[in-house]
Amino acid sequence: MKLFVDTGSIKDIEAIASLGIIDGVTTNPSLLAKEPGDFRDNLKRICEIVQGPVSGEVTATDTAGMLREGRDIAKIDPHMVVKVPLTRDGIRACKTLAGEGIRVNVTLVFSAAQALLAAKAGATFVSPFVGRLDDVATDGMRLIREIVDIYDNYAFKTEVLVASCRHPMHIVEAARMGADICTCPPAVIDALFNHPLTNIGLERFLKDWEKAQAVKA
Ligand code: E4P
Repeated sequence: MKLFVDTGSIKDIEAIASLGIIDGVTTNPSLLAKEPGDFRDNLKRICEIVQGPVSGEVTATDTAGMLREGRDIAKIDPHMVVKVPLTRDGIRACKTLAGEGIRVNVTLVFSAAQALLAAKAGATFVSPFVGRLDDVATDGMRLIREIVDIYDNYAFKTEVLVASCRHPMHIVEAARMGADICTCPPAVIDALFNHPLTNIGLERFLKDWEKAQAVKA
């Protein structure tokens, strides 16, 4: 399973990329709005760091505007992926951009029916938001299972990009279900490393080693 980082922070992306475990980046208008500088320059820099798919989202809500912005985003770098919302205009834009060879990530997906539409429109990625479903007392991971089943039934090529991940169990469950990608905020990626027994074990190994060295000296 691929791991993407969900942030617009170049500092955070540089730090996480140095671990060698990141395959791509997702951004959205809320995330990019927090960052200083021109968003195109920032996306270009992110592509240079990650050398993998980087999603940049359109803010137009009509098909013509999405196509204009989408083509502009795609020109930033060959790694760019155009993110469009799951609306009628977004699906039309997805179909056209995909036909031009531009990779599209259909975002704000909250149902299996919507995910089916994204696949039919030729999306490269579909982004179901599991955390936001959990927030409204609906099982986000159940949606992932449904989408993976449907895509498998018909061998759709669209990759399931699990978004709005809030904790490590979202990632573990997504991997067990065979989702293609999880995109997570830096803090959630950081949390994947943590286990108290790793810290205790390492401390004990080092203490035993030091004790033995002292005896030999
Ligand atoms: C996905 O591409 C979105 O940017 C993101 O995962 C949304 O997550 P949130 O619900 O934590 O804002």
